[in-house]
Amino acid sequence: MSTLLGARIAGYTIEAEAGRGGMGVVYRARDPELDRLAAVKVIAPDLASDAGFRARFVREARVTAQLDHPNVIPVYGAGEDDGRLYIAMRWVDGTDLGRLIHERGPLAPERAADLVAQAASALDAAHAQGLVHRDVKPANLLLPAAARDHVYLTDFGLAKRDGSNASATTTGHWLGTPDFAAPEQIEGRELDGRADVYALGCVLYTALTGHAPFADVPRLRKGWAHVHEQPPALGGALGPVVAKALAKDPAARYATAGELGQAACAAASGKHRATVRTRKLVTTERRRRRPFVAAAVLAIAIAGAAIALTTGGEEKARQKPAPLSTLPLPPPSSTATVRCTATACTQNGHRVQAPIEDGRCDGGTWSRIDTGSPPLLACVPSTPRAATELPDITGARLDRAEHYLDQLEIRHDTSGGGTFGIIDSGNWQVCTTTPPAGATIAPGHETVKLFVDRSC
Ligand SMILES: Nc1ncnc2c1ncn2[C@@H]1O[C@H](COP(=O)(O)OP(=O)(O)O)[C@@H](O)[C@H]1O
Ligand SMILES: [Mg+2]
Repeated sequence: MSTLLGARIAGYTIEAEAGRGGMGVVYRARDPELDRLAAVKVIAPDLASDAGFRARFVREARVTAQLDHPNVIPVYGAGEDDGRLYIAMRWVDGTDLGRLIHERGPLAPERAADLVAQAASALDAAHAQGLVHRDVKPANLLLPAAARDHVYLTDFGLAKRDGSNASATTTGHWLGTPDFAAPEQIEGRELDGRADVYALGCVLYTALTGHAPFADVPRLRKGWAHVHEQPPALGGALGPVVAKALAKDPAARYATAGELGQAACAAASGKHRATVRTRKLVTTERRRRRPFVAAAVLAIAIAGAAIALTTGGEEKARQKPAPLSTLPLPPPSSTATVRCTATACTQNGHRVQAPIEDGRCDGGTWSRIDTGSPPLLACVPSTPRAATELPDITGARLDRAEHYLDQLEIRHDTSGGGTFGIIDSGNWQVCTTTPPAGATIAPGHETVKLFVDRSC
């Protein structure tokens, strides 16, 4: 895909890769005629080759383009060019809510409610046109750097679905990590806007806690959990709002996304009635120049301060000092594994925020590297990079541990395999390592021994 750099797609010159998602690659591109930046999303060839998907994609891009709403990402064009399926939209120079939560931790209730209310307003506009979003998740709420209080909802109707029975109506199986998918979506039942209400409830949950409702549940059981289990209840004024949005029965949820947004804002501000308004885009040079407070993740208290500092003066004024127990936990560092139980995650013995499984980390993706529960997660880099400290991989599935170590350029050798020396690396676990976790290692020189067994 990187060969597209410098290429022309539908008149846009591809300048840089902005990121990759489940559906393809997003590029920063330039419209040479207007000298304007655009985000061009090129859909992955396996999806683009599905005729049903192609037809729906173009149709839904057209509906999105007609949604003239301040919180809907403006779509400039969509279609096929040289066999590539693309959608071109406004370039948002900033971040997305998933990345913001990952980097800065949970949001203050008022801010979380405000962002969700804006996305809700966009969803109401889409639902009024008969368009169900189907993939509402933090990564699809884009936040411009120049106006972090503003939200653009993107990727309408783009949820990846099984082409075998996806039709022009609303059926179709959903593929991927179902962190935000409604029970009816998991079960492949017919969907309406209330599936988006559920997903937006999950987004609110994630914004308030720093992790998705069933973050600790292994990926293959997540769908089951959405259908049959309750996530840990949230306290505070927004707890009942989230619970209603996450009702298993669509009829028991808020009837519209806007109702959810209003209820969230009312609960967050302590008022019973609130008017949801869409914020005007405000560009303040002062805010734009504010330095990034990266070092703030070092301590819980500093992390709390970082959120206040980086979300602007307005936010700071609104935020009351949080009691110590509710201060956000520091995000995990990408250099060590994270062990989670049902209630807490730790890294090198210290409590950290739960990483978002399949979420981005520094240069890679947070991935499960174990077999069972409780989860062991590692930031697996997408391209190899040298590590100097051996991470704790006790309990990791052998093949995933090997891949992780390969990506860290740590050489390894496996011992074990019982009497016959047969090792099924997809089923066996790493029980101990020599040297032990935390040891300093010379990348590319020393070989780490992995002692493995069927179970430790
Ligand atoms: N309009 C846009 N402007 C700038 N960056 C964008 C835009 N749309 C998506 N991105 C970024 O491109 C990356 C990949 O996006 P996408 O393929 O939609 O991934 P996902 O499946 O996680 O939503 C993300 O980091 C996202 O923030
Ligand atoms: Mg997206």
